[in-house]
Amino acid sequence: MQLTKQEQEMADGKEGNAVKKSMEILIALGEIYGAKNLVDVTSVQIAGVSYDNLGDAGLDYLAELAKDGRVKVLTTLNPAGMDLENWEALGMTKEFADKQKAVIDSFAQMGVKTTCTCTPYFIGNKPEQDQHVAWSESSAVAYCNSVLGARTNREGGPSALASALTGKTPLYGMHLDENRNAQVKVNVETEIKGTQNFGALGRVIGEKIKNKPSYIVGIKEASVEELKSFGASIATYGGAAIFYMEGITPNKTPIPEESITVTKEEIEKALASWNDDCEVDFVSVGCPHCSLKELEKVAKLLSGKKVVKEFWVTTARPIKKEAEELGYVKTIENSGAKFACDTCCVVSPIKGRFKCLATDSAKGCYYGAAKNNFKVKIMSIENLVKEACGEVVGWIL
Ligand code: F3S
Repeated sequence: MQLTKQEQEMADGKEGNAVKKSMEILIALGEIYGAKNLVDVTSVQIAGVSYDNLGDAGLDYLAELAKDGRVKVLTTLNPAGMDLENWEALGMTKEFADKQKAVIDSFAQMGVKTTCTCTPYFIGNKPEQDQHVAWSESSAVAYCNSVLGARTNREGGPSALASALTGKTPLYGMHLDENRNAQVKVNVETEIKGTQNFGALGRVIGEKIKNKPSYIVGIKEASVEELKSFGASIATYGGAAIFYMEGITPNKTPIPEESITVTKEEIEKALASWNDDCEVDFVSVGCPHCSLKELEKVAKLLSGKKVVKEFWVTTARPIKKEAEELGYVKTIENSGAKFACDTCCVVSPIKGRFKCLATDSAKGCYYGAAKNNFKVKIMSIENLVKEACGEVVGWIL
C-alpha cells in the first residue's frame, strides 16, 4: 500500500504506541483486501463494547491502547452489556458492572464519546453523503451506506478503533463506487408497513440474495424507523452492507438485470417463523435503538396502563434525555416498563433469565434465539404493549 509521509510516520511509531499498533492493523487489512492506499475518515462507530463479549483479554487490550492513544475524529460506541446508570434495577451483578465500567473508562480515556448506541445517527454521529467513515455495527453500517449515503465497510471492533486513533481506513469495498452498485432488482409485490414487516422483508431478501446489493422497487413509503429495522434485518439474514429503495434512499445505481420477486406469502411465512410455542415473559422494543418518535409512540400506548411482564425500552441515553423533557419517560416508567439505555436485549448478559422474548425486531428475534437461547415472537409495537400489559393471550401480529 502507498502511504503518505504522515501515514508512514504514524506507522513508524512517531505518534506513539497506540497509533503504531493501529497502523499495523489498518495496513494488514488493506493488504488482505487489495487496498492501494488509506483514506481519511470523518467518524467512527465501535462495536465490541460489552464486557460479556470482550472478557479480560479485550479489557487489557483497551487499557494498553488508552495509555497513549487519543481519537482523531468523532467516535461513538455500540451498546454495552448494561445500562451504565441503571444496571442494578435491570438485574446486573456488581462484578459485571465494575468490568463494564472499566471498558467504558478506557474508551473515555482515549477521547471516545461514550454514548453506547447502534443508532449513532440519532445522536449526532451522522455523516454526510459520500463521506468515508469506519463503523462496526451491522445495522448501522447498512443504514449509513444506504439511507445516509456515506461510505463504510463493516469494521470489526479493533479496526474501527484503529481508524479512530489514526483518522484513516483502507480504501476498498464499500468505499469504492464499483462495489456499491446494485446487483439484483427486487420487486416487492405486497404492501409493507410497520417495523416488524420491514424486518420480515429484510429477512426474505437477505436469505434469497445474501450480501449482494439490492435495488428494491414497490415500496411506497418507509419511515426512518422502518428503514432501520429493514437494514438490521437484511444485514443479519444476508450480510448486506448496502441496499437501494427506489424513490426512498438517496444513492444512484445502474438498475441490475437480474431480478427476483418477494410475495405476500413469503412475508407471512417469515413472520410465522417467529412464533415459537411459548408464553411471553420478556418484552423489548428498540432493536435497533428507539428513535424519539418511537418513544413517543410507546408512551402514548402505555399511558395510564400497568405492565405485568418485564418490559425493556432500549435507546441511546441522549434520546432518553430528550424524551424526559417531553414527558415520555415519566409515562413509560409509571407503567412499570424499564428503560435500558446503553444496552439491549441481545448484548446484555441475560441468558437464562427469560424464556420467551416478544419484540418487533427481526434482528432481535435472530440474536435473541442464537445468543440468549430465547424462544421468540414478533409483533407490532402496539401489540407488544398489549402483551406487556397482559391484554392479549397468544400471538397476534
Ligand atoms: Fe442494536 Fe442490540 Fe439490536 S445492538 S441492532 S439493539 S441487537
